[in-house]
Amino acid sequence: MSEADRLLSVKAAHEERFGAAPEVAAWAPGRVNLLGEHTDYNGGFVLPIALRDLGVAIAVAQDAEPGVIELYSATLQDSDTRAIDEEAAGRWSDYVLGCFKKVAVDRVARSGLRVTLMTTLPLGVGLSSSAALEVAAIRAAVRLFDLQMSPVEMAVAARQVENVFVGMPCGIMDQFASSVGDPGTALFLDTRTLEFTSAPALPGFSFVVIDSGVSHQLTDSGYATRVAECKAACEALGVEMLSDLTDADLPRIDALPEPLNRRARHVVTDNRLTQEGLAALQSGDAEAFGRLMVESHATEKDNYEITVPETDALAAAALEEGAIGARQTGGGFGGAVVALAPDEKIDDLCTALTTRYSDARILAVT
Ligand code: GLA
Repeated sequence: MSEADRLLSVKAAHEERFGAAPEVAAWAPGRVNLLGEHTDYNGGFVLPIALRDLGVAIAVAQDAEPGVIELYSATLQDSDTRAIDEEAAGRWSDYVLGCFKKVAVDRVARSGLRVTLMTTLPLGVGLSSSAALEVAAIRAAVRLFDLQMSPVEMAVAARQVENVFVGMPCGIMDQFASSVGDPGTALFLDTRTLEFTSAPALPGFSFVVIDSGVSHQLTDSGYATRVAECKAACEALGVEMLSDLTDADLPRIDALPEPLNRRARHVVTDNRLTQEGLAALQSGDAEAFGRLMVESHATEKDNYEITVPETDALAAAALEEGAIGARQTGGGFGGAVVALAPDEKIDDLCTALTTRYSDARILAVT
């Protein structure tokens, strides 16, 4: 389905629900991260790809009571009504409310909104469903109110909504990939400076995204604990951010108490792997990129302890079934695995994995 078709679908769902056509519609993609996990809130590098077909579509009209947002999720078949001065309440509508509050609070106070959502992104698999929802909502607000915001500014605003309003201490990777990324193209981002470059694809190879079937829930998971551990490691090492460190610092990192030593080792290691990953893509070296993915999964598992037995098994099985690299992607504690394989082996790889693991689902090939 093209982006234009998705916008038509969400507009039709809106009209059916509310009995009048929306004024604007917008779409924002999810992402799969190839290398650099939990490096973003440490000022490090990340390498995500915005997904072409998995994302969130939103339609909006200014025809509700002043100060009120009426929301309908056509995907969840659920509705909610929120006041613009409300705080977060732990519901899916928080993300949309937070975004309109962030960029257009005065406008919504004067004329309320009706909002319809449709998503093709599965929740809880680590493909940035919340970031896509935030970026789609901000894009819709920008169109509706003719706001002057660049894609980078929209990503920054969306992250603030997540950090401050929703209360999830994430980095900027997901919002940046969704707002700035070009679907199908890897984006190498320096999360400290927000400088970015697009990385070339590997001709003859594709990335497959496989849901392990173990749903992750980052707000309840160890995500905030990891953020706090990184902060404690910075204090102990006397640095502002862990991305200030390199492999040369590993001896003093290893001397930290458990588990801060391994948490810091992960960040330094995955940060290096991400830089090497960009170089491998630029030189078209798929085998090297695959080896970096394998090394990245190992540090996610052994040092950062964010994998689960199911994603460990799926990543290992992908390598047995023809992939040349595989790792858990996203925030972790379950979710999806991304594998790199030659194009001619992709079909067999997908069949083998879904046959061996009945809970595994192929989500995307990019
Ligand atoms: C989640 C967060 C991101 C990032 C990843 C892990 O997706 O939203 O900011 O920290 O986890 O790399």
